[in-house]
Amino acid sequence: MINQNLSLAERAAQVLNTADGHEKTALSRHHAKEWFESRTGKREVIEIGTASPPLHPARPEHPELLNPRDVPKRKPGTPAGRIALLHAVAHIELNAVDLHWDIIARFSHVPMPMGFYDDWVKSADEESKHFNLICDCLDTLGSHYGALPAHTGMWRAAEDTAEDLMGRLAVVPMVLEARGLDVTPGMIELFRKAKMPQVIETLEVIYAEEVSHVAYGSKWFHFLCGRENSDPKEIFHSLVRRYFHSTLKPPFNEEKRAEAGIPPDFYWPLTEADPQ
Ligand SMILES: [Fe+2]
Ligand SMILES: [Fe+2]
Repeated sequence: MINQNLSLAERAAQVLNTADGHEKTALSRHHAKEWFESRTGKREVIEIGTASPPLHPARPEHPELLNPRDVPKRKPGTPAGRIALLHAVAHIELNAVDLHWDIIARFSHVPMPMGFYDDWVKSADEESKHFNLICDCLDTLGSHYGALPAHTGMWRAAEDTAEDLMGRLAVVPMVLEARGLDVTPGMIELFRKAKMPQVIETLEVIYAEEVSHVAYGSKWFHFLCGRENSDPKEIFHSLVRRYFHSTLKPPFNEEKRAEAGIPPDFYWPLTEADPQ
């Protein structure tokens, strides 16, 4: 099934073109393993190469994908609400797998240091693990990914920034994934109250690993600003205002954001509409 000679970009496109969640994450983890084996000399070199990634990744028949405002709201304090919340997290993780492979496939023509690819392959591998862990939690609760509707909102950021690598870094890791750092402690608390250790453990793994995804975003964003000799904060503000169709919502997890290399003067000004 797997062609050993595929470039990294082709492997990324292959993950994007795989519809089933478990098949997608298995392929993603397989490619990540081979990538790091090649980077440490344990197998032949994998070229970065080029590919034509789909504008929308392949998706399974279920869940049904709805407009964000049509997804039914459920109370988080009830058993059904907790399942719905975990289902939403599974959907986010699956989108994140695709987002990390997409940045590799979509921008493979932009010359970047090898560390750029290492970081996003590692992130994609971790998202794949997150999806599988959340699916295990859903399984324990007698549900599964696909049992409830999900929304189409997340891929919009990818589409909007399909031709702008700095825009992609600003909006996906530095805004959307940073938002994950803000909301995850509250979710852990909710499952602590419900005494659900498997979920707590899973969310703690996700929380710890997501800090580095945000940090990779910040690192490569600053790298590109440095290459162009432009002011990172100004560029960040203008790109988020261009591509992210909302203001940022406090409260922010200042401690984890700082750990990930995002200073307060990057995000606080974006809580208000553009004064111009
Ligand atoms: Fe994740
Ligand atoms: Fe992530």
